[in-house]
Amino acid sequence: MLKTHGCGILREEHIGQTVTLAGWVNRRRDMGGVIFIDLRDSTGIAQVVIDSGKNDVDFPTAEKVRNEYVLQVRGTVDPRMEGMQNPNLPTGAVELTVTEINILNPSKPVPIQVDKDAGEDESLRLKYRYLDLRRERMQRNLRIRHAAIKYIRDFLDQRNFIEIETPILFKSTPEGARDYLVPSRVHPGKFYALPQSPQQLKQLLMVAGYENYFQVARCFRDEDQRADRQPEFTQMDLEMSFVERDDILDLIEAMTIGMVEHTSVIPLASKEFPRISYRDAMERYGSDRPDIRFDMELVDLSDIMKDSAFKVFASNAKAGKPTKAICAKGCGHYSRKDMADLEDFAKKQGAKGLAYLAIDPKTEQVKGPIAKFFTTEQLDAIMTKMGAEVGDLIMLSSDDKMVVYSVLGELRLEMGRRLGLTTNTSLNFCWVIDFPLFEEGMEDGHYAPSHHMFTAPQRDHIPLLDSDPHAVLSEQYDLVCNGFEVSGGSIRIHERPLQRKIMELIGFSIEEAQDQFGHMLEAFEYGAPPHGGIAQGLDRLIALMAGEPNIREVMAFPKNQNATDLMADAPSFVVQKQLDDLNIAHAGAAIEAVEAAENGE
Ligand code: AMO
Ligand code: AMP
Repeated sequence: MLKTHGCGILREEHIGQTVTLAGWVNRRRDMGGVIFIDLRDSTGIAQVVIDSGKNDVDFPTAEKVRNEYVLQVRGTVDPRMEGMQNPNLPTGAVELTVTEINILNPSKPVPIQVDKDAGEDESLRLKYRYLDLRRERMQRNLRIRHAAIKYIRDFLDQRNFIEIETPILFKSTPEGARDYLVPSRVHPGKFYALPQSPQQLKQLLMVAGYENYFQVARCFRDEDQRADRQPEFTQMDLEMSFVERDDILDLIEAMTIGMVEHTSVIPLASKEFPRISYRDAMERYGSDRPDIRFDMELVDLSDIMKDSAFKVFASNAKAGKPTKAICAKGCGHYSRKDMADLEDFAKKQGAKGLAYLAIDPKTEQVKGPIAKFFTTEQLDAIMTKMGAEVGDLIMLSSDDKMVVYSVLGELRLEMGRRLGLTTNTSLNFCWVIDFPLFEEGMEDGHYAPSHHMFTAPQRDHIPLLDSDPHAVLSEQYDLVCNGFEVSGGSIRIHERPLQRKIMELIGFSIEEAQDQFGHMLEAFEYGAPPHGGIAQGLDRLIALMAGEPNIREVMAFPKNQNATDLMADAPSFVVQKQLDDLNIAHAGAAIEAVEAAENGE
């Protein structure tokens, strides 16, 4: 080894010892004749002193040293001078008095500062990710990630789960996103699909009799990027046989609580994870991933509106379109301009307008453009229902229920942010259960699964598949934390006839089903056990545990919002020979063909 100790482990107990350290120059201070260096390695930082008047030390070499040079230093561990201790640093009581200094490698001036976050543009951080990863924050985050995954592996190992790897080159497994395709050289014109999840394979492992499977699995989805989405991400994927919904929920709760307690920076709000039905989540929070850190719930005012003189709301009430509202505490002083901004915000979510009523903090009167349409009794009834007090602001939305949910759901989050109710001081988990099996409306004349097509309908709802498929509730469950969906799973269909029926409802012809899932349908005829599972989005969970605003901060080499790796410059063009081998015409040729067609050639 080129070192005897890690920089970050030196303590008072080492005083008097001769040690060798090796690491990077985090910072240097030249005091003229004495140079102080903060030497950093993966264990932390130690102060290193090169004093030209001591030990015949090679001072000219020390003078050459700059930030991020790689050094090896040998010397004795001494107590720091009185008043020079640094209580914020674990090694802050001691320093290394250097006798030998050796530059292992110089460094060019770095394009991003390593010793502190200087607020650089994220694209610069991603381009020089290997430098960014040297920073304390990223070192901490990747260690939390390691600890969390290790905790999960140990936890499941103790409960007789085995980790089984499944192929990356496989066939399309539908999770609702676009597939990444890989062309086959051996089979011209044919493609593998990268798995959107190991869904089919883990179900086949249940047919294969493994009963308790898990995998830390990489998944690939070609979809629009967001703060909590990456084209490739990691799931803690799990499947069990002979289980019911609550077996999975209880297991995941215990695992999540343990993982947070052992590895999270942000503590748990509660060990009780409330179970909220999909319907309740939509009615009360306007979202199927409710942020339960704060209340400000949606309240239905349709009854009061029915008899009011405000035409839009009254006629909507008669047409069965709800009017709902939220109450933002202490926002009654908002100006017309503030309200116009919020109305714009609501319109971006699909609202036609945003009506409001405020209880003026000065006059204690209800004001707002629509106040005149209501009787005193109606206003009193609204305020009582909303729990509104002097100084509060009530915002109302009236429309198709899905529009109302999304308008008020987003507005609730926005007001929560403005009122400081969404700070990341604790992790508030809840389950969402009792999802509808199919999404509202139809896609190309067919039902669309809310989760995926292998999710089982609730037993007593199976007859409804013939009469009213939209009313069927499923065995799907999602785990939500601070408004993010961190896990999703379900009890599966294990009988072939039922699976076929669902496929028909979602518009898979027998031929298509046979072509894409023939292997699964066939497997289900050889004694498939009842089974179910779940997948936790590890990146999202770890970002929340680390108190980070997006999942890129907890991934070593993430892609940017454009699905580009800025460091390696991927995706990139390839040489014609590679395309020829794969029987693929060059993209350039395709673009030329499109241009030619447009020019009528
Ligand atoms: P689902 O599609 O709900 O379920 O995914 C499970 C969890 O994975 C996370 N996730 C993502 N994280 C980062 N980037 C993405 N693009 C991304 N997409 C999803 C979410 C989500 O809750 N096979 C089923 C699971 C099952 O039924 O067992 C599945 O993949 O946190
Ligand atoms: P109007 O009478 O159309 O000027 O509307 C009066 C107020 O009601 C305005 O503040 C509108 O933004 C609001 N408003 C109109 N339609 C709706 C709606 N469907 N939901 C909520 N507010 C609305």
